[in-house]
Amino acid sequence: MIDKTGLQLRDMKPDDLDAVLRIEQQVHSHPWTRGNFSDSLLHGHICKAYVDMDEIVGYAILMPAVDEVHLLDICIGVDYQRKGLGKKLLKDILALANELKFVRVLLEVRPSNVAAIALYRTMGFDEIGLRRGYYPAGQGREDAIVMENKLP
Ligand SMILES: CC(C)(COP(=O)(O)OP(=O)(O)OC[C@H]1O[C@@H](n2cnc3c(N)ncnc32)[C@H](O)[C@@H]1OP(=O)(O)O)[C@@H](O)C(=O)NCCC(=O)NCCS
Repeated sequence: MIDKTGLQLRDMKPDDLDAVLRIEQQVHSHPWTRGNFSDSLLHGHICKAYVDMDEIVGYAILMPAVDEVHLLDICIGVDYQRKGLGKKLLKDILALANELKFVRVLLEVRPSNVAAIALYRTMGFDEIGLRRGYYPAGQGREDAIVMENKLP
């Protein structure tokens, strides 16, 4: 049972990667590798773990680019999904991006990822484009929908 008020958004550390990878491999058909996460930590991306007590229940990775920031990955562990945590994590991420004075958050999402698209729409993201054949898929490639959230 999670007490949502006790959730903490903190910087991700190299020591977190075992737990992060466990979630990543459960939730994505084409998961990031340990190297992808290490590179993000190394290159100064904004890497945040969402923690309940000492347990990582989710995380988000953002790549800053001048005045905008790209949400590269956001996940909630399978056991914790559909309890409002994804919404809360994204709300905290948008608040952080706003605090850091970014003007907008951008992301790509698979058209087949109905859960994520519904979450993004609820949280004020609009569809602004399509990148053809952006993602690897079971057979061939899958397009990406590009979404934007203009920060206040
Ligand atoms: C997308 C994700 C982060 C949502 O996290 P979550 O904690 O389950 O989401 P919440 O419980 O906060 O739900 C928020 C909204 O998302 C939508 N949603 C979440 N899961 C959904 C599902 N399985 N089907 C349809 N809509 C869904 C709903 O609109 C929901 O609002 P509602 O509960 O009022 O209907 C989670 O499903 C996840 O980690 N998925 C795998 C990783 C991923 O695809 N990340 C995004 C691309 S990088």
